[in-house]
Amino acid sequence: MDRLDSLRTRLHCVGQAHLLEGVEALPPGDVESLCRRIESIKWETLPELIDQYVKNRPAGATGEIVPASCVTVDPECVCDAVSLVDAEGLREQGETLLKEGRVAAFTVAGGQGTRLGWQGPKGTFPASPVTGKPLFRLFAEQILAAQQRWGHTIRWYIMTSEANDTQTRSFFLDNRCFGLDRRQIMMFPQGMMPAFDSASGRVLLEGPGRLAMSPDGHGGSYRALLRSGALDQMEGRGVEAISYFQVDNPLVPVLDPVFLGLHIDPDLSSGEFTSKMVPKCGPDEKVGVFALRGGVPGVVEYSDLSREQAGAVDASGRLCFAAGNVAMHIISTDFARRVAIEGEDPLPWHRADKKVTWHDPASGETHVPAEPNAVKLERFVFDAMGIAAKPAILEVCRETEFAPIKNASGVDSAGSSIQLQSDLYGGWLEQAGVSVPRRDDGHVDAAIEISPLTAMSAEMLSARGLPAGISPGSVFAC
Ligand code: UTP
Repeated sequence: MDRLDSLRTRLHCVGQAHLLEGVEALPPGDVESLCRRIESIKWETLPELIDQYVKNRPAGATGEIVPASCVTVDPECVCDAVSLVDAEGLREQGETLLKEGRVAAFTVAGGQGTRLGWQGPKGTFPASPVTGKPLFRLFAEQILAAQQRWGHTIRWYIMTSEANDTQTRSFFLDNRCFGLDRRQIMMFPQGMMPAFDSASGRVLLEGPGRLAMSPDGHGGSYRALLRSGALDQMEGRGVEAISYFQVDNPLVPVLDPVFLGLHIDPDLSSGEFTSKMVPKCGPDEKVGVFALRGGVPGVVEYSDLSREQAGAVDASGRLCFAAGNVAMHIISTDFARRVAIEGEDPLPWHRADKKVTWHDPASGETHVPAEPNAVKLERFVFDAMGIAAKPAILEVCRETEFAPIKNASGVDSAGSSIQLQSDLYGGWLEQAGVSVPRRDDGHVDAAIEISPLTAMSAEMLSARGLPAGISPGSVFAC
């Protein structure tokens, strides 16, 4: 039986034979790529997935939801759900990991970034307030600064997708890896999932001979780390802890010794999966919160909390479900390997209803839907939390660590992020004795940027060489 016949039989068995309709009319190169794409998919697993997630909506998770216990190093943040831990002890443990080269940085950068609408990988987006440094450069500068400080090469792993892998690699090469050694960076593409027609469950074609595919979510990172050989490489080089962060937050501390120390503290954590949280701004903030559902720790979507739960406050007046997930995790290499290989489906899928342009092989027409017509399936990295024996959660300060760029305008946009960055760096300058202009609403009235190579915190900023003051509406970078 030739290759096409055998694929036809395979697809027929799972109700997807339409994908090879009209294949004879395609140029040989296109037939080859179509065959390879079809061969890369585990078709046998799809009927169950389609039944569970596409034709039906998966039943919502059940079980009583209670707030997760967290820790903080700031006595002022202590409340019912948040207890105090010793920053210095944790910092020391984390610094030891860094000095011994047992930590790697890991950026997930495979997303499609549709909300931002930037032409190119999101990591190439100019994010800093004055010099417009791209996100990737800001992370690279943090890694360079950390290497200087802790005297050890820090490996950087970057998960891309099929759609942005080539562009991401070229961007790094064109920019000479921002001063890092090319050999300390490893990029690898994540897995892809087909998009399904919502009504029929048929896999969609985006054009003749081309399946509509999209990245399989940041939860695909466990398998991608394993498949790419990144986990083997890490373990071969003595890396035990993976500092996971998203590509869209210019303020993310790429390597935080206190966070790392918490991860390996045997009294506080099982050393498998450790997370940071920031308190929600208010009950309506649309962010998932750390909580236990039926006794299992995880992230509960904001839409899964009732109005009463979202608005409930404790004795100190603080929201009970306040622990907002900011997508910063430390994951041990052992744990990542376990999640990647455990059973067929260690993590659940999540359904997203999307508009997907599709090609009908029977009529040869392409349709641009006005309403969501398709289902995409994604995995989430934090769903592995429920598998960890004792995941720890550290409360951190939103203002110093979180200024995401998700949207083209408004909340969580480049504009809001630049203001938050200027506010933070303006505060550092004030602590160093510089007079910084502020508007009536308290925000800094200037664009201010401090490179991680200059200082990683207010304490590290030397007053030497700084101006006495900054004029309203001006720019300052150092
Ligand atoms: P988002 O949930 O913000 O999704 O990703 P996105 O694809 O970047 O943006 P939209 O929703 O299309 O506007 C959060 C982080 O997870 C990564 C993203 O690159 C970002 O760093 N991610 C997301 C992946 O690496 N792979 C995915 O499949 C999805």
